[in-house]
Amino acid sequence: MGAGIAQVCLSAGHDVRLHDISASAIAGGRARIEDGLGRLVARGRLDAQGRDAALARLTPAPTLEAAAAGAQVVIEAALEELEAKRAIFRALDRAASADALLATNTSALSVTAIAEVVRRPGRVLGLHFFNPAAVMTLVEVVAGERTDPAAVAAGTAFAEALGRRPVACHDAPGFIVNRVNRPFMQEALRMLEAGEASIETIDAAIVAGGFPMGPFALMDLVGVDVDDAVARALFAAFHAAPRFRPSPVQARLVAAGTLGRKTGGGFYRYDTVGRVLGPTEVFAAGGAALPADEIRTRIELAIVNEAYHAAGEGVASPPDIDLAMQLGAAHPLGPFERARTLGLRRVVGELRRLERLQGERFRVAPALWQIASV
Ligand code: 3HC
Repeated sequence: MGAGIAQVCLSAGHDVRLHDISASAIAGGRARIEDGLGRLVARGRLDAQGRDAALARLTPAPTLEAAAAGAQVVIEAALEELEAKRAIFRALDRAASADALLATNTSALSVTAIAEVVRRPGRVLGLHFFNPAAVMTLVEVVAGERTDPAAVAAGTAFAEALGRRPVACHDAPGFIVNRVNRPFMQEALRMLEAGEASIETIDAAIVAGGFPMGPFALMDLVGVDVDDAVARALFAAFHAAPRFRPSPVQARLVAAGTLGRKTGGGFYRYDTVGRVLGPTEVFAAGGAALPADEIRTRIELAIVNEAYHAAGEGVASPPDIDLAMQLGAAHPLGPFERARTLGLRRVVGELRRLERLQGERFRVAPALWQIASV
């Protein structure tokens, strides 16, 4: 993801230093940026000169100190482990200039907890991009408990200058998109675990509903390990609430190092240029296929319900949640817009039916009950 973010910064005219603890990952990041800029040239959105100028502004940094020295903005996009991120921020605290903005691209960890290890937590904030960063225009701007308002304003302006749409978020688990979109993955995984449908049937049903890709293709895109880490962080943050229970299927893929596109295989297998070859062998057999309508209803209504949970807890306003889901995850409708389109009575009725069939993870969110019963 760091490479995608770097590409966006280069395209906006910034000088970028790219660092990773592995030299081959830096080289791989540069190759992905070249590929991404090449796509823009191929589509006539950038000329060869613009691509060369952008690449000339990219410098590999062999150490974190070399990357951070003199930078105005540092964006960390390391693995989703709190202690790993804290170690990086401890080092950044010493290496970056005093007025630099220190941002984390964490998917679901607490910005406040990451910021605790630096001397001036006021300059630490979340700038959360979405995969593929070059295409998705949302940036969640996350203020930790001790983030200075000036740092939030600077982060917001920085995201805007990248041509992105910043949306302010509280430092709540999963922020907006990773929380509200959790059922997109989780519910699909439950269907797979229960043998109710195959990955291809589920993905096809979702694409037929106007989403750009299905849940299994999306997990392969963001990384099965990244998605599993998000699931685990949310499950812990919501005190083991059943609707956030991580999937053993995902855990098995992670243990096997089958992490999605980045390893050549996850739920699907890919060739060297990223074309889908077919489902990974263990997922090739189809289950008894649930009708496409029911697949969509379960996934879409679980998302609507989660959006009401999030809004009811003050994570963000309904219009911001709708916008975030459309720009950050390319949903055809925001969840509140979907609820309005279907009618609240119908949404509540369907959720109650699903609760009877599937259990408490479909229990109607308190904020939805309140509105629907007025
Ligand atoms: N650099 C530059 N441009 C790129 C690019 C890159 N790396 N990758 C794709 N593009 C451009 C293409 O050139 C194309 O441009 P065009 O509109 O001018 O033709 C456009 O993006 C669409 O690309 P494709 O035609 O190759 O592919 P699709 O039309 O199938 O779209 C997709 C691909 C954008 C990935 C779409 O399927 C999508 O929006 N999927 C949903 C992604 C999503 O939900 N992301 C959020 C994940 S959650 C997350 O990231 C948070 C984290 O914390 C886990």
